[in-house]
Amino acid sequence: MERNEREAREPGLHTEAAPDRRGGTAPQLAVERVQALGDSEVAELAEAAAAAIMDGGGFGWVKPQPRDTLARYFRGVLLVPERSLFVARLDGTIVGAAQLVRPPRNNEAQAFSAQLMHFFIAPYARGHGLARLLVRRVEDYAAAIGVRVLNLDVRETQASAIHLFEAAGFLRWGTHPAYAQVGGKVIAGHFYYKRLAPAPRRGRGA
Ligand SMILES: CC(C)(COP(=O)(O)OP(=O)(O)OC[C@H]1O[C@@H](n2cnc3c(N)ncnc32)[C@H](O)[C@@H]1OP(=O)(O)O)[C@@H](O)C(=O)NCCC(=O)NCCS
Repeated sequence: MERNEREAREPGLHTEAAPDRRGGTAPQLAVERVQALGDSEVAELAEAAAAAIMDGGGFGWVKPQPRDTLARYFRGVLLVPERSLFVARLDGTIVGAAQLVRPPRNNEAQAFSAQLMHFFIAPYARGHGLARLLVRRVEDYAAAIGVRVLNLDVRETQASAIHLFEAAGFLRWGTHPAYAQVGGKVIAGHFYYKRLAPAPRRGRGA
């Protein structure tokens, strides 16, 4: 099925052809918000997370985790009402994810904001622009559901993530000197926010 045709049928799906610098076939990039996943998709996601953790993590986990622990974790994420799970696919295979976390219902004062968390692309799928697409997709969805401020935090050691988020317009407002502990070493972390413009209203019949 053609990309544009698939996107029209599945509004949650964003796809993009990656520019191919090596003269081969350009990989197909896709990002979508998922509310359910099949067993093989959960296995792909667990594999991607395991590979990213072994590569140094940066999105929470520090120690390598068994695949079934990660699979149970992602199945649990799908059940939490405040969490929206987005997956990134390279040529159809899930290779990364991110979560948009809204405040609980009792937190009316911060209901206009949300947190972008647990953002990763597996090492074997990096450098194709999938993370850029994932940020854009999460932002579009957040704006569409009324989020006006997107917050995130990241270890100071995650150079590529820092580059990614700053290039996407996130503004650093502070640094926590004792943000995380990895391998017995205390690491600082940077805190960012981005104001989101309201999503354009769709015209009648759109
Ligand atoms: C950060 C991460 C998601 C980037 O994934 P990716 O698929 O390689 O990213 P993309 O291909 O979309 O590239 C996005 C940008 O990052 C840049 N980038 C990628 N790797 C980089 C690196 N090692 N150093 C500096 N910049 C880098 C790219 O050049 C691109 O910049 P551009 O838009 O100016 O061209 C990935 O490295 C990762 O999962 N890291 C570990 C987890 C993590 O740090 N998560 C963030 C915590 S919330």
